[in-house]
Formats: sequence, structure tokens, C-alpha cells
Amino acid sequence: MKPFSLLVTALTVMTAIPVTGADNTFDINVKKTGAPIHSTMYGIFFEDINYAADGGLYAELVKNRSFEFPNALQGWKIFGNVEVRNDGPFERNPHYVRLSDPGHAHKHTGLDNEGFFGIGIKKGEQYNFSVWARADVPVTLRVELVNTASMGEDHFVCQQRLTVNGKEWKKYKVTLRSTETLEKATLRIFMETRGGASVDLEHISLFPADTWKGREGGLRKDLAQALADLHPGIFRFPGGCIVEGTDLDTRYNWKNTVGPVENRPLNENRWEYTFPHRFYPDYFQSYGLGFFEFFQLSEDIGAEPLPILSCGLACQFQNDDINAHVPVDQLDPYIQDALDLIEFANGPADSKWGKVRADMGHPEPFNLKYIGIGNEQWDALYPERLEPFIKAIRKAYPNIKIVGSSGPNSEGDQFDYLWPEMKRLGADLVDEHFYRPYEWFLSQGTRYDNYDRKGPKVFAGEYACHATGKKWNHYYASLLEAAFMTDLERNADIVHMATYAPLFAHVEGWQWRPDLIWYDNLNSFRTVSWHVQQLYSQYKGQNVLTLTMGGKPVAGQDGQNGLFASAVREGNQIYIKVANTSEQAQNITLNFTGLKKKASVEAVKRVDLSSDKLYEDNSIEAPTNIVPVENSFDGNGQTINTKINPLSFSILVLTIG
Ligand code: AHR
Repeated sequence: MKPFSLLVTALTVMTAIPVTGADNTFDINVKKTGAPIHSTMYGIFFEDINYAADGGLYAELVKNRSFEFPNALQGWKIFGNVEVRNDGPFERNPHYVRLSDPGHAHKHTGLDNEGFFGIGIKKGEQYNFSVWARADVPVTLRVELVNTASMGEDHFVCQQRLTVNGKEWKKYKVTLRSTETLEKATLRIFMETRGGASVDLEHISLFPADTWKGREGGLRKDLAQALADLHPGIFRFPGGCIVEGTDLDTRYNWKNTVGPVENRPLNENRWEYTFPHRFYPDYFQSYGLGFFEFFQLSEDIGAEPLPILSCGLACQFQNDDINAHVPVDQLDPYIQDALDLIEFANGPADSKWGKVRADMGHPEPFNLKYIGIGNEQWDALYPERLEPFIKAIRKAYPNIKIVGSSGPNSEGDQFDYLWPEMKRLGADLVDEHFYRPYEWFLSQGTRYDNYDRKGPKVFAGEYACHATGKKWNHYYASLLEAAFMTDLERNADIVHMATYAPLFAHVEGWQWRPDLIWYDNLNSFRTVSWHVQQLYSQYKGQNVLTLTMGGKPVAGQDGQNGLFASAVREGNQIYIKVANTSEQAQNITLNFTGLKKKASVEAVKRVDLSSDKLYEDNSIEAPTNIVPVENSFDGNGQTINTKINPLSFSILVLTIG
């Protein structure tokens, strides 16, 4: 069997790409430096979907730590004498448990926590247990990590004791060192003291000691590292639809997500029930990962923060009734939230909201430059609400750039209505969303070429290539994203930001596919789409160079053999990105014009992302199944020849000497 015959069979059910077999000569003008590529060009989009926050990036291992789920004991198993009470020390999270003597020497009082799809622990690693507690007489607790699936003699993996010795609420801590690696351990707490004693427990927490940047109560290290390794220029948070909530009551209210974690009120997570076929009744938002943490993470990974706030519209997909939304003349509290957020991020440490930030450990401003108002909104309902936000923000903070929305669709009536509205209102950027099939990605190579250069800039704020019907991560979809991104790059004068979406998914808890980074309780992997994003970011360059074939942009147009290409310059380096979406290898001639006398271009290396496993991706078991490979690349002069593999993406690195 020929190496590609399998692959060709697969392709026939996808999209037939005409292949002319002609030579492909790319003309690259190195003299004419084009638009600068904005530092925010390639970024990340975070939303708490697919257990991205609790159970994901936020490293807390205890589910329902504050007993605030509607079923106060969801995630817990109790034994002996346990009572849920609601006059605890944290006003906005009032529930806690009282453990009392079980009444018989051979019985036990205590509780188990199941974690998020179990509690992942690693041999030799330390885990920080903490609890707020009080007791009238000293009470000893035994805290264990338990292997409930163990067939051996020892059920517990490790244990520690701590004594609650005060009548007032106080935080107690103890560290456990795991002697086993388990994907699904259980946290167990026994009350050991008897004789009629009782103890109150609240905010029961367990974190790995080894978090991102070693922060106590911080982020899961491998997942945060996967973000840092993308070198993102922009970090959009907290979503997506989650900004709107299902209704106004459940919208994302950033003020509930800052300050001490113990007092951040629980919110439902709309992704618990948005898709009934992927129903997760235990999916809530603890807000342990809140706006302070988002700003801090932006700073850590060198990305500009881009918070998106509710514009006073509840999710329009789920609310037909006009009364579900905030009337235009009652938007003031929402507008104030936006102004207060800017003060929280940028205000002096003695301002009202700047002080909240400073008290959380960051007296320096976060230097916020962008804010988004509204997510996927449509109809006149949106511009009429956005307008007063824009006026108020411009008045108080004229330098803040405002991102508006073009709705949920990449084209069509609402899109055509909203773009001119965004221009009229003077939005700085317009957020476009496109989760689209193969054909769409193949047809969009010149999407931005004819956009009005005088209007708002583009933020391609949510996109991913979705197969028609069943959607999943696979190489071919990533290749088409790479092809499409040449258009973003070529139009960097108008496209200033682009973020693939969604970002994270737990393998046992996803609602939406494909996603950029997947994980279970112990391991994670970076998808092929992650590698595409990473390559664009790593070889972002400083300025666009003109690259054409027969005088036309190389954008999968008729007669272009399924090729998409763009070029950028960074100092003396040239990076040429080429996606070959055809089933045949393509010979490429790089023809450089505009070189100074005696100057020439020399090939340095190439990075190739190539696979015949079209419908596969990386996985927990095979995290490097498909990854880019660096290869040597020869050639010197004004013309360099090379070959691009069938169905592959390459970055050609050259230097001007
Ligand atoms: O990324 C998943 C969802 O897709 C987002 O929440 C929403 O904005 C879009 O519809």
C-alpha cells in the first residue's frame, strides 16, 4: 500500500482539493516592511467549561470544600455523627459541618471527599491540607489520603493528625506526603477524640504543595506551564457564555471572585446543564480562581489581560423574554462594575478597589489596557446597552481599549448588522467567533483582505475547526487552523488578537470538543492545535512581508494547489509559514525580491508538522503522537527551492545576510 493511499481514501469523504501539479513560486518582497504584528496577536481564551477551573487549572483537590453546593454534602460521604449547620464564620459561605462523638467506642465520625473525578496524588509529593475549625475542648482529627480501590492490607496511603484546640474559628494546616501515585484517591477525615466532644469544620482544602510558581492555594503546575509555553500575547477571561450566565443572577460577577477565597460565594456553572447529553450535576464555580488570579496569571505568562464583562444581557440563546435582561435605563450597576474593575486592576493601592488588589498581595497595578463588554450578543438589544458602557469608560479611562462583539456567527445577518454598529459606537476591537467546518476554514484564506482598514480592529476571539457532526480534536482540523491563520497573519494590520477556544478539558468532564489542552487528575497533553498556536506565537515576527504567487496572496485560491502561506520578518530573520492542504507534496520556489546589492537569503532550518494520522491527535497515553519536528533546510541566494509534505504545515526559517 502506498504511504498516502489510506489518507487519500480518508480525504475523499472530506473535501476534494484540485491539484494542478504546477510549480509554486512564492514572491517575497523583503524590502517593503509591512504592518507590525501586534504583541497581542496570538493569545489564549479561558473559560470555566470542561472543568477548566475547579478540577482543572485551579489546583484545589476538594470538591464542595465550603459545603455550599445546593446539596451541602455533594462530593462528601459522611459517617457517624455529622450535622450541616449554616452560621459559619464566612458570611457569604455560611455552611459548615459539626462532627460529634458517634456514641459507641467501635463507631467512627468523619467524612470522605471524592475530589473531582477522584483526587490525583503522586508518590513522594506533598499535599497541604487545611481547615477552618473550632472546638470547645481539644479534638484530634486524623487526615488520610485513602486508596479505596486498594486490594492490599493498607487502605490509607498517608495520614497525619492535627488537634483543634480553640473555641474560636481558626485555620489549621497539616502536610501529607503521598507514598503512592493514584489517579483517584479519597480524602478521609476521622474525628479521633471521644467523650462527648464535637468539632466544627469549614472550608476543608487540599492542594499539592508543588503548584505553579509555588503559590499556596495556587494553580496546577503542568496546566499553567502549558499556557506559559504558548507565549501568549493576550489572555481573555473568564469566557464565553459563562460571562452571561444562564440568567442575570448567575452571570459572572467579578466582585464575587476577589478577596479571601473562604468568602467568595459559590455560583452555579451553566455548563453543568447546558448540554443535557453531557450533564454534570456537580459542576459549580468556587471562584478560587478569580479575577485577581487571572490578572496574576496574565502577568506571569507575559500576556495582556482582557477581561470580558456582562453588558446586562442574559444569555440570548437561553432567554427570549425581554424581561430577562437589564433595562437600558437600569444599567448603572453593571457600568459601575466595569469602572470598578479598571480601578481594581490599575488604581492606586489606596483607592477603594485598588486596595482590594493590594490587600491580596499586589500593590502594583496590573496595567490593564483592554476590556470587553458583552460576549455573543445580538440584535439592537446589544448596541443600545454597549453604548452607555462605552461612554462611561471613555470618560473615566480614555486610554482603555474596548472590545465589542459581532455576535455568535462568523457571517450572516447579525454579523452584518453588528459590525457597522460597532463602528458607529467606536469600539476599538470587534470580537468574532467561528467554530466552523473544514470547508469554511478552507474557504477563508482571504477573509480579512477586504476589511475596512478605518474601522475597529479584529479580535478573532473564539475559533476552532470543527468536523461536521461529531466534533473532536484531530490533526486535520489543526492543519486547517494553521492554514487559516496565515490570513490572520497577513492581515496583522487589522487583526490584532486571535484566541483559539476552548482552552482546557478534563477527559472525564468535558462538555465541548475540540479543546486545546486535555488532562486527567495526574497528566495532561497538548493537542496538535496547541502546537499550531505555539508555532505561530514562537515565530510571530515583527512585521508582515508581502508574499504572493502569481501576484495573489497564497490563500488556497483557485490554481494554488491547496497552499496557504504568509511571511514575517524579525530583524534579519524571515519566517515563512506554509500549509499544504493538498494530498500531494508541493514543490515551492522562494523568490526573494528587494534585497540589497550583494545580499542573499540563507536557509537556516524548518519546523515541520506533518502526519498521515489525519483523524488522530495526542492523548494522555501518547502525548507526543503528533508534534512538530525541526529539520535542516538548505539553500542560499535569491531563490531557494524546497518541498512541502502533503497535508502538512511548515515554518521555514531563513536569514538575510
Ligand atoms: O467556547 C465555548 C462557547 O462557545 C463560549 O462560551 C461561547 O462564547 C461560544 O458559543
